[in-house]
Amino acid sequence: MSTKSILGFDSLNRTDIIGLLNSQGDDKVTLYDYAEKVKRLTIGSKVFLRGLIEFSNYCEKDCFYCGIHKSGSVDRFCLSDSDILNAVKFAHLNGFGSIALQSGECSTKGFIMKVDSILRECKRLTNNEIGITLSCGEQSMDVYKRWFDSGADRYLLRIESSSESLYRKIHPDNEKHSFKNRLNALENLKSCGYQVGTGVMIGLPFQTVSDLTDDLLFMKQLDIDMCGMGPYIEHHETVLYDYRNELWPLNERLEMTYKMIAILRILMKNINIAATTALQVIDPLARERAISIGANVIMPNITPKGASNNYTLYDNKPLASYYNIDELSALEERLLASGHTIGYFTQGNSLHYLPPVVKPSSHDIHQE
Ligand code: 5AD
Repeated sequence: MSTKSILGFDSLNRTDIIGLLNSQGDDKVTLYDYAEKVKRLTIGSKVFLRGLIEFSNYCEKDCFYCGIHKSGSVDRFCLSDSDILNAVKFAHLNGFGSIALQSGECSTKGFIMKVDSILRECKRLTNNEIGITLSCGEQSMDVYKRWFDSGADRYLLRIESSSESLYRKIHPDNEKHSFKNRLNALENLKSCGYQVGTGVMIGLPFQTVSDLTDDLLFMKQLDIDMCGMGPYIEHHETVLYDYRNELWPLNERLEMTYKMIAILRILMKNINIAATTALQVIDPLARERAISIGANVIMPNITPKGASNNYTLYDNKPLASYYNIDELSALEERLLASGHTIGYFTQGNSLHYLPPVVKPSSHDIHQE
C-alpha cells in the first residue's frame, strides 16, 4: 500500500507503521510532508530551546553502547554548582525557556542532594521562570518525588529499546540493568506528576524494523509527553563495538530516525519531540531537518568548556561550545528559512501533559 493511502487512515496499526518505516522515494517525502502538516495544525511552528547541561559523567552502569559506562577509561568530571548555575543564568538571560540537566546514573546521597539544591537554585535565580528537564537515570520513587518537589518539571528516561530481548542484548544481565526496573521507573515518574519523556536508539546491532514499530507503539501506549530519540553511533570502547560491521550504514540510521520522528508525530500529535544531538554526528544540519518533519524541540549544548569534553556517549560527539550567540543566530536563520520561529522566554511545556488532579484540601473546601 502506498504511503498516501496509509496516511488516509485515522489511526495507524502495526502493519501501517511497518509500511511507513520501509517507505522510500516519493512515499517517504509524502510521510515527511504529512507529519510536518500535522505538527503545524496541532502545535504550530514554534521551536522550543532547552539549554543542555551535561553536568557529570560518573555512572554506576555498564551499558554496552555507552562511552561513559562505569568500567570505561574516560576521565570523570562533575561540574561545580557555580559552573552549572552560570550556565543556567546564561540560558535564562538569552531567552532559553528551559534547561535540561543530564548526567550519568548515580545513587549516592551526595549526588542526590547536589541535584536537589541545584534545582532549587535554578528556580530561585530565575524567579521560577526556567523550565527544568532532568535526565539522571533510574532513581528510587523517593528521589523522583524529592526532585519534583524541588522544581524539576520534566524527566527524560529513555527505554533505549522496548523489546525486552533486545534490551537484554545491549545491557549486562544483572539487577542493575533490569528491563522491569526501567519500566517501573517510567511509571513512577508519571505518578509523581512529571512531564515524562522516553525514547530509543535507532540502528542498534540486532534491531529490526519490527522492533522499531513496537517502540513507537510502546510510546503511544505509555502515553508519554515528550520523546528524544536518535541514531545509535558506535563508541570504540564498548561491547557493541564488536558488531560495528553489522550496522545499517549511517545514512540509513539517519533516515530511519527521521521516519520514526515523523510517524511518532502522526501517532501522538501534541507531544514534544526533540531533534537530538546524535543526529548532528551524521549530518551537521540534521537537527534542522528533523524540525522540518515533525520535531519541535532543540537542545543546544551549553555545558561549560573543558571537562565536559569527556561526556563522550559515542565517538565524534560534537563538543559543547558554551553556547555561542553567533551559533544561535545561525540556527535561528536556518529555522526561519523552513518557516519556524524560536519560542524565546517561554518554557515550551508539552501540550499533551495533564497535571495531576489535586484533591481539594479541607482548608480549600472550608473557604468556598
Ligand atoms: N549512540 C547513541 N546514543 C547513545 N546514548 C548512549 N550511548 C549512545 C550511543 N552509543 C544515548 C542513550 C542515553 C542517552 C543519554 O544517550 O539513549 O539514554
